[in-house]
This record gives sequence, C-alpha cells and structure tokens, in this order.
Amino acid sequence: MAFLDLIERKRDGGALSPDEIQGFVREVVAGALPREQVSAFLMAVLFRGMDDSERRTLTLAMRDSGEVLAWTPDPRRPVVDKHSTGGVGDKVSLPLAPLLASLGFRVPMISGRGLGITGGTLDKLESIPGFSTRLSSERIRELVEVDGVAMVGQTDRMVPADRILYALRDVTGTVPSRDLITASILSKKLAEGLEALVLDVKCGAAAFMRTRAEATRLAESLEGLANQCGVGTRAFVTRMDQPLGRSAGNWLEVVESVECLRGRGPADLRELVCCLAGSLMVQTGRADDLAAAIGVAAGELDSGRPLAVWQRMLERQGADMDAYSRKLRSDVLAPVVQEVRSPASGCVCQVDARLLGEALRRLGAGRLQSGDVVDPEVGFDRIVQVGDSVSAGDVLVRIHARSENAAETAISQIANAFRIQDSPVDREAVRIT
Ligand code: URA
Repeated sequence: MAFLDLIERKRDGGALSPDEIQGFVREVVAGALPREQVSAFLMAVLFRGMDDSERRTLTLAMRDSGEVLAWTPDPRRPVVDKHSTGGVGDKVSLPLAPLLASLGFRVPMISGRGLGITGGTLDKLESIPGFSTRLSSERIRELVEVDGVAMVGQTDRMVPADRILYALRDVTGTVPSRDLITASILSKKLAEGLEALVLDVKCGAAAFMRTRAEATRLAESLEGLANQCGVGTRAFVTRMDQPLGRSAGNWLEVVESVECLRGRGPADLRELVCCLAGSLMVQTGRADDLAAAIGVAAGELDSGRPLAVWQRMLERQGADMDAYSRKLRSDVLAPVVQEVRSPASGCVCQVDARLLGEALRRLGAGRLQSGDVVDPEVGFDRIVQVGDSVSAGDVLVRIHARSENAAETAISQIANAFRIQDSPVDREAVRIT
C-alpha cells in the first residue's frame, strides 16, 4: 500500500475505502508503518474526520486485530458491560459489575487505568490486597460463565491495534478526535463479545467533553455505531462538574463502593449505578420501563446479594480477604490526614472536580507520566457536594497524603475548588439524558 497517498487523501478531506482502512490496521499491528506516517495520518483524521462507513470499518478492523471473546449461548443470562468516558470519583463500575451479575447478567468487565485526571477501574481494584486484574481470556471466560463477573485488564491478545494507536495518540495530541475515540472505545467493547452495552458519557469541568453539546455528539456517535455493529447500546450523558460521590482516590473509592453495595453510600452514586443497571434490563428485554427497572436494581442492591457477589469475585481473583477486611475497617491509611474547613456558613454551590482531580493526580493517586506507579491510599474523602448546607468550620474535604508537604500542596491546589453562597442551591440530578 502506498500509505503516503492515503495520508494525503485524508489530509485533503477525501474518504478511504474499507480495503485501505483494513490494510492500515493490519500494517500498524505488524509494525510495518513508520511512526511519523501513522502520526500524520491520525492528525489528518483529527482535522478532517471520518464518515460513518470509515469509522465503522476502522472500529471493526481494530476489534478484529486480536482475540474476540465468545460465550456459550444463554438467552437467560445476556452478556453485558458498561463503559464510562471517565471522571473524578467515578467508581460506578465497582458496584455496578457485581450488581449486574446478581441480576443474572454475565459481565466480562474489561477496564483501563487512569488517564489524565480521570481515575481508572484497574488502579482502584489493585488497591485491594492481592487482587489480580491480569487474567487469561480462558480464566475470564470461566469466571464469567460460573460466577457471572470478572473485572480485569485487557489481555495481551485483545485489540493490539488500539494499544499501538492509543500510545501514539497520547504523544501526538490526537486523542480528542471523536472518530478515533469512538473506534478506540468500541473496538475494545466489541471484542468482549457483548449482547448489550450501556455508556456513561461524562460532560463538564473534569470530563473529556467539557460541553453538553460535545458529549451528546460523542454519545450519539458511540451509540449509533455500537447498535449498527449488533450490540444493543444506550448512551447516557451525565455531569462531571463535581466529583461523583464523596471520595476520590483508589482505595477510598473502593470503600465508598462497598458502602454502595451495602445499600448505603452517596445518593448520586447509587442513582447512577441503578440507572445504568436498569437501562441494561430494559435493553435486554428484562424490563419494559426504565423507572421500574431502576427500582428493581435498587432493591437488589439493598438485598446484600451484590455484596456477596463482590466478595466472591475478590476471592476468585486472588484477594487476601483478611487483609482486605482489616483495610476496610481502618478509617485512615495514608500517613498524613488533613481537613479543609469551611470559612463561612451557607450552601455549597461549587465543588470543582477538575481542581480536585489535578490535586489528586499530584498527590500520587494518578499518573503524571505513563509508567508512574499510583499510590493506592492517597486521595480525598468527606467531600461536600453542591447543595449541602455547611456551617463555618465544617469539613469541606479530608485529604489523605503521603507527606505533610504533599498535603500542603493539595490544599493550595484546591483553594478555589469550593464556593459557598448564602442562598440555597438545587442539587443537580446526576443523570442528564
Ligand atoms: N478511552 C479509550 O479507551 N479510548 C479513547 O480514545 C478515549 C477514552
């Protein structure tokens, strides 16, 4: 293939044929194309975009670049998953996966690590002593068929094209292309062999997509293409202006997720978890009506069964259950804990998730460079939410840090994150569409 011709055609706004796109993906995986040419091509796609047919071909070619999971046919136990574009404190996958398994779904949840200021499910799970997220596809299949759930990282054999392209996009400023994001996310989800998928596309200060309009366009692109590819998909656009829940940081989010599995915890987290579970029930024909399905999901959470599924999953994936229980009982694990207190009485009208996310990453909960090791125990808890009433001196957030210096840096980074006003503020609904 004369790859330069393809780069020039895309640069000039032309379209590529299915053969050309499939050939591109094959050669990327074979390592046959120079990195500078692949980078130039990605930049041309970012500026010129792809039409529906090109985007679909790219997504399917990336899916087929590696192993695609296959499942025993069983109409009573549909194979489902969820994907979130990510945010601060977004721990939804942790309670949702066991809840779905408890509702009778099979859930091969293949997740990623933190990216930028957004946390990653694998980093959170790996804060559980002994828990392994690196399983072979044979073991994933076994766990999902028997227990209904496995929460793991992508195996080496799955979607190699995305691994290569994503690493290049990361260093060439070509991540924010709607076409490339769509192909990247869906190639991985389609490789799970799903029957239904629910998507949580975040919008707001700490999201990839800052505006509702951008998030809606991405949601439509993802939902439309996934449905065309035979996976019944529904996308929700939800807010990411303030953190989700009241904790952010790997282990601290596990603690809050366990609270949710106990039928407790923050209302916004529970609402989103139940909404996504309810949607999958409707999508797979197990319920007619979203409101009723949300009620069923909430009742299931309160039954304690999803918590039992979670505990069995931890055991199956190697967790040291004694160490886990001990850790869960400790209020504080990081060496330094400091509280930030409200200077005034009133109602919280802003909790800036971007500032908290940047401070979180600097504390060590996320990565400043790829290859950095994350600190499982640092982060924030007891975070107030928009709409909370506070008195002067009340805690706005508690900081868990590795050192006094790190805590002081975080305090100065989040100095402008909180705003308090005299008049009451409406609590915003988590779910937007
Ligand atoms: N998540 C992905 O997996 N890929 C993207 O391109 C963006 C977010």
